[in-house]
Amino acid sequence: MIHQAIELRDQGKNVTVIYKDIRTFSRNAEEMYYEAGMKGVVFAQIPQEVNVEEFVKYENGNVIIKEELLNEEIAIPTDLLVLAVGIDPPEDHHAADLLKLSKTEDDFLLELHPKLAPLEAAVHGVYMAGNVRGPVLAEEAISQGLGAAAKASELLSKNTVTKEPITAKIDPDKCIGCTRCAQVCTYGAIEGEKKQTHHVIEAACMGCGNCASVCPTDAIEMPGFTNEQIMAQIDLALQENPEDKVVVFACNWCSYAGADLAGISKIQYPPSSRIIRTMCSARISSKMVDYAFKKNAGAVLVTGCRLTDKGSDCHYNYANKYTWERFQKWKKKITHKGIDPDRLQLQWVSASEGIILARKLYEMEEVLKRFKEKTKAQAGQSSQGAE
Ligand code: FES
Repeated sequence: MIHQAIELRDQGKNVTVIYKDIRTFSRNAEEMYYEAGMKGVVFAQIPQEVNVEEFVKYENGNVIIKEELLNEEIAIPTDLLVLAVGIDPPEDHHAADLLKLSKTEDDFLLELHPKLAPLEAAVHGVYMAGNVRGPVLAEEAISQGLGAAAKASELLSKNTVTKEPITAKIDPDKCIGCTRCAQVCTYGAIEGEKKQTHHVIEAACMGCGNCASVCPTDAIEMPGFTNEQIMAQIDLALQENPEDKVVVFACNWCSYAGADLAGISKIQYPPSSRIIRTMCSARISSKMVDYAFKKNAGAVLVTGCRLTDKGSDCHYNYANKYTWERFQKWKKKITHKGIDPDRLQLQWVSASEGIILARKLYEMEEVLKRFKEKTKAQAGQSSQGAE
């Protein structure tokens, strides 16, 4: 836009740029902005907080700007009025929904890693370039396009595609054919008749662990995220002063990535937090939550990719909707057992929201404090009663 303003100015036209905010972020852009000012382009800033429609009007070939200090209106005679709008991501991000891609806070697509994998989506085999990740200059979009195409052709040049070995395994000796796993699998990757041993279609299984968390006989195991491994991590997290600890379950793609981002950005979170990673929040089972409280955890925080009325950022085909349903049940269950429901909380976090996760973890510190005060008060009352 500044470039066009300079060209018009070079043709002897008067140019006024009315703006709320200008960013000149590419190479030589700041110099161009300076050059425009030197050549007589007028930059008129209107306050951030005002409604543009109230502040700027177009009447009879004049742009009228309200001048706040003098409280009067300035008319700028205009031959050509150009409206330069910002770039907005589409409201209906069909491709993102279809491919289960994560989005940034402002609804652009999120890369796997801003420095190490800027062209790759978290979903394997999906690459991105250009404005889908946010506004970029044409030359940058071209380089990204070339990079993404190179990545895609590297993948396509192979005869075989390597898949993560994290697929569900069903123990035929333990499976009772209850069909619960098949009912919750969002990929239709589990087959079997009722009351008969089920089996996993490995090529279709994406490894979220949703099935394992509903299996009543523990017949399903997730390599790398077995029940024993997760329970052992809970044990370790609560080894010392468990009442001072918050067990935080974090899904690999969003909340754990958010915690990672918080670390990279040097955002502090409290030392009471003990993060346990699972591939998806749907891997967390009722047994894990119960076990954490049985081991006297001060609080438990379940985190996962965002789930809203508009959709889900979960990388496993909306599996986190099960997390939400289960969470409601766990709340009721612990309340029934006499545990303060405040001690079990849930927070959806996108991979770009390390700051939101950090804030939530500080909130959980307050939960711990309240829990300790309550426990102390109760202990005081019972010792008085005993006297
Ligand atoms: Fe994050 Fe499912 S992958 S909640």
